[in-house]
Amino acid sequence: MKENITIHGLSFRPYLSREQIAVKVAEMGRLISRDYQGKRPLFLAVLNGAFVFAADLIRACDVDCAITFIRLASYEGLNSSGTVKTVIGLQDDLQGRDVIIIEDIVDTGHTMSQFIPQLEQLGPASIAVASLLVKTEALECEVDIRYVGFEIPTKFVIGYGLDYDGLGRNIPDIYQLAD
Ligand code: IMP
Repeated sequence: MKENITIHGLSFRPYLSREQIAVKVAEMGRLISRDYQGKRPLFLAVLNGAFVFAADLIRACDVDCAITFIRLASYEGLNSSGTVKTVIGLQDDLQGRDVIIIEDIVDTGHTMSQFIPQLEQLGPASIAVASLLVKTEALECEVDIRYVGFEIPTKFVIGYGLDYDGLGRNIPDIYQLAD
């Protein structure tokens, strides 16, 4: 992993290497494969941030599955605005499906706690959440995250799909805002 990097004038330090991430994603994939044997889950990846994680996670899952994408936005810059907007609506029929939401990161939990009830109205058989990162101490809502990659402190992170104002998504490792 490189040394500190600078994005939009802010310094970020190495935090989780691509190797650590790969080990964790493989482990999450094994758990999901075990739990969904004989089922055909529908992964629902939350754009934009989860696209890298979703691509790796579904390839770590050894089970018949489908994937679709939804775009929600609750974040501007470094602070959560606390409001959730559905930018791209969901076209798929969720009736009777076992849905697994793929999130890159759960911070305050507002996004998931508003989104899950909306999904429940569409009649899925089950809903589970898989999030690579969870800022446990920042959680303000009760969110049941069945598959957690890493519990991390309340510090802004970038890389592996996560951005800071549009930049950083292409970085293969995860970096944390330096003090
Ligand atoms: P929540 O609603 O506060 O849980 O925020 C969830 C969304 O905020 C995530 O899907 C991300 O898009 C964004 N987010 C939260 N923390 C970070 C971070 O540290 N880096 C980049 N994006 C973040």
